[in-house]
Formats: sequence, C-alpha cells, structure tokens
Amino acid sequence: MQLVVALDLPSAEENLALAESLKDQDIWLKVGFRTYIRDGKSFITSLKAINPDFKIFLDLKLYDIPNTMADAAEEIAKLDVDMFNIHASAGAVAMQTVMDRLAHLEKRPLVLAVTALTSFDEESFRMIYEKGIDEKAEQFARMSYENGLDGVVCSTFESRAIKDATSSSFLTLSPGIRPFGEDAGDQQRVATLELAAKEGVDFPVVGRPVYRSEDPRAKVAEILRVMAAL
Ligand code: C5P
Repeated sequence: MQLVVALDLPSAEENLALAESLKDQDIWLKVGFRTYIRDGKSFITSLKAINPDFKIFLDLKLYDIPNTMADAAEEIAKLDVDMFNIHASAGAVAMQTVMDRLAHLEKRPLVLAVTALTSFDEESFRMIYEKGIDEKAEQFARMSYENGLDGVVCSTFESRAIKDATSSSFLTLSPGIRPFGEDAGDQQRVATLELAAKEGVDFPVVGRPVYRSEDPRAKVAEILRVMAAL
C-alpha cells in the first residue's frame, strides 16, 4: 500500500507548508480541482521543488469527448505528474483514445477511472446509471481493465470484488480512510487501514485526519508505521 495525502487546504501557501512538513516521507500527494484551478502548473512545480521524489496524483476526473480527453491527457503527461484519473462513464472509446495517445511516451502517468462517485446514494445513482452502485462499479472496473487502464478509484468496500473481477495487479485507490477511527466528516462509508489492507486497496487516500491533526508530520509517520506492519 502507498499512502496518498490529499492537499485540500484552502490556499497554496497552506498546502505547500503541509507538503514541506511531509517532505521526508515516502508518500503520494493528491492535487484536486480546487487547487489545480487556482494554483495551476506552478503548484506542481513547487511540490517537486520541495521533494523531487514526491509522487503526485492529479485528481481532475476528466470527462469529455474522446479526442478532447486525450488532448488533456497528453498535456497532463507533460506536467510530470505520476497519476491522473478520468470518469469511467466517458466510455470504452474514450479510455482507448486516452491510452493510445499516451502509449508513445517513454514514461507515462498511471491512469485510473472513477467508478461511482461516493456522494451518490443508491437511488440517485440508479436514476442515472440504471443499475446499483456495486454492480455498476464492477462493470466500469472491468471496462477500464479491458481498455488498458491501470486501475480505478473505488471505495474500500468494492476493492476486493473489483480485483476478483479483473486482476490482483489492477490498482484500487480508495478515499474515505480513517486510519485510527477518526471522525468520518461527510464520508458515508469509512474504513480503517487494516480493512483497506485486507480488501487489497493499493492507495489509501487520507485528507482531513492528516491536515486537521495537530501534528500532520507525526500523524503521517504513524500511518506509515502501521502500514509497514500490516
Ligand atoms: O478528508 P478526507 O480524508 O475525507 O478526503 C478524501 C479526499 O478524497 C478528498 O480530497 C475528496 O475530495 C476525495 N474523494 C472522495 N471520494 C471520491 C473521490 C475523491 O472522498 N469518490
């Protein structure tokens, strides 16, 4: 498992200070919509300047026509990020077009697909996708696997079934991790590190439990210690 810390603080200065405090740790950093729209490419450069070995996951969840998605994917690859994501519901052709466009690169970022957004409840999900969340997440995961993606974003609770339906090496990245049973906040289904490990999650994502703790550095060190022992 590799820990992903979400940089979800409200300003570039605060996010960079958080990254600075974590600079000697072997972690991934998640850069989302808000930060990227506000702080852009220079923010990525600033993170790499703090520690060139930081791995960066650009969480922009691309969804558009296939050619436009592939254009964006090509630009993302130039940013020197290590992983980004697209929406699985963009479809198989979009997946293939994105992967084909990245195929010529010597080193390309990992590409994940978002299966079901965790904000959906079962009923509102069905209104759009006409299937239940579990069934559709697995179907989206199979489609992503068959079209050459590296993995999916899913909840801890879907990780095992997705690996069974695809491959044990097909990556799962799961938000909603509360390493030591911290407050769930607005997350509906949260999991501990032990459960994430048991369900085969490759990338547990932790936001608030780290950046809201009194000592984020100590918190991350403790998470890494527990992960190493699992
Ligand atoms: O603070 P917390 O640990 O809940 O943060 C989880 C992170 O993962 C946030 O950046 C949130 O936007 C993101 N995320 C999520 N659920 C998804 C996709 C992303 O919680 N399905």
